[in-house]
Amino acid sequence: MSDQPLLIMKGIKKSFGKINVLRGIDLEVDYGEIVALVGDNGAGKSTLIKIITGVHKPDAGEVTYKGNRITLHSVKESRQLGIETVYQERALADQQEMWRNIFAGREITNIFGFMDVKAQRRETERLLREHMGFTSSAITVNSPVKSLSGGEKQGIAIGRAIYFHADLIILDEPTMGLALKETDRVLNFVRGFRDQGKSAIFIDHNIFHVYDVADRFVILDRGTVAGQFTKAEISQDELIANMVHLHHSGTLQ
Ligand SMILES: Nc1ncnc2c1ncn2[C@@H]1O[C@H](COP(=O)(O)OP(=O)(O)OP(=O)(O)O)[C@@H](O)[C@H]1O
Ligand SMILES: [Mg+2]
Repeated sequence: MSDQPLLIMKGIKKSFGKINVLRGIDLEVDYGEIVALVGDNGAGKSTLIKIITGVHKPDAGEVTYKGNRITLHSVKESRQLGIETVYQERALADQQEMWRNIFAGREITNIFGFMDVKAQRRETERLLREHMGFTSSAITVNSPVKSLSGGEKQGIAIGRAIYFHADLIILDEPTMGLALKETDRVLNFVRGFRDQGKSAIFIDHNIFHVYDVADRFVILDRGTVAGQFTKAEISQDELIANMVHLHHSGTLQ
């Protein structure tokens, strides 16, 4: 661990055609810190995190991760660096069994270089029992992903982040469409992650969830950072009031 934050983004710009979606974003995430990205629909939150995960290449700006300048070309590259993403519309192959999904793209191989199916099943079983918080007895490591609930699908993505020891986990609306209990499970996981000294970027339109789990709030507005506050600097009510004010007037209170 160095004195530098885990992630430093500087002057990030991204356009799609004529639309300037990100207009020069500075964002830092420290070790053991949960940073919430909040802002209206279309503010650029998902686009920004897709730059961190290698889905999009920025038009301008620098990304420094663990003290090194990085230029990502794929999601695979970001995963190799220890960055994992959990999203609602996540890329899980629906027809596949749970154990295949956990290891997709990073299969355990035996000494002959073949996929070690047994080891993958065993590890998935362990994750299922110890970390993913599944309670339904109908679910096994062989269950196809399409038979799982929304919360259980989140559990798989979370299990993957745990198994591969991610240092930075990005959650883009992970509680969308989840029941209370499943939402609690996801929020608990985020808290647990910080307790292990890991970091997260958390995006959620529910300010109650955001305020509960995050240490710092970065407010995005039409592709710029409108403001940022640590939890000590702003109460939940003030954060909500600021968001409402921003929505109506285009400025913070
Ligand atoms: N691949 C793309 N091609 C063209 N435009 C895009 C693309 N991805 C995003 N945009 C546009 O960029 C803007 C920001 O989108 P983004 O998904 O980053 O917003 P967001 O803050 O995540 O919003 P939400 O809260 O609704 O998820 C939107 O106007 C969107 O239409
Ligand atoms: Mg989004």
